[in-house]
Amino acid sequence: MTDTTLKHLAIIMDGNGRWAKERGLKRTKGHEAGAETIRDITTYCADHSSIETVTFYAFSTENWKRPKFEVEFLMKLLDQYLKNELPTYQKHNIRFQAIGCIDHFSKALQKRIKESEERTKTNSSLTQVLALNYGGRAEITQAVNKLIAEGKKSVSQEDISAALQTPYSDIDLLIRTSGEVRLSNFLLWQVSYSELYFTPTLWPDFTTEELDKILKDFEKRHRRFGGAV
Ligand code: IPE
Ligand code: IPE
Ligand code: MG
Repeated sequence: MTDTTLKHLAIIMDGNGRWAKERGLKRTKGHEAGAETIRDITTYCADHSSIETVTFYAFSTENWKRPKFEVEFLMKLLDQYLKNELPTYQKHNIRFQAIGCIDHFSKALQKRIKESEERTKTNSSLTQVLALNYGGRAEITQAVNKLIAEGKKSVSQEDISAALQTPYSDIDLLIRTSGEVRLSNFLLWQVSYSELYFTPTLWPDFTTEELDKILKDFEKRHRRFGGAV
């Protein structure tokens, strides 16, 4: 195993609104197109030999600030996506899991999420994680409160890692589309030593060919983790 083995890929899918605007379409059309991209990238990851987990940022704790109709559209789209996706999950042996505070969603959507998790729980070629109503600070705060409730007086880094909602390995590579160069409260604990890649491509235009190029770039990097060259 080399230090550039890619086990956990994380993606901040950004630029759906601008993609739609460029085409004179409503923002919601951009979200629809973006959902197609998630499918393509996920199946690519399922076929990739080393990737075990791909985590997509789908809805942040800050995204509630958007107009009500857009939030409602995103909820409907998520429900539709999960409903349509089941055959793909089964065909490609993909496990689906959600992270984030989903109890803020409607009962029907929570049920859909739980069902998708339940029905795919024995699939093993890839875990697709969708971050839904997710915030990195919220996740860390929740973890610390959990440890306090367990009676801990002081905590180690290992304790915090274990108490997070994400029982997955640290992120090896984080990609953000759309040209924005920020983390927007995504996986703050888990990205401490991630390689970062920012591309100007808007999420609906992001392709498996571009991902392929990014992975080749990642393989050439020297991850030192603070050690000497
Ligand atoms: C990302 O695209 C999707 C979500 C955050 C839900 P945006 O909707 O943020 O697209 P831009 O940034 O406005 O172009
Ligand atoms: C980050 O994108 C959240 C998701 C991709 C779900 P935003 O478009 O919400 O982030 P900002 O507002 O540009 O930081
Ligand atoms: Mg955005």
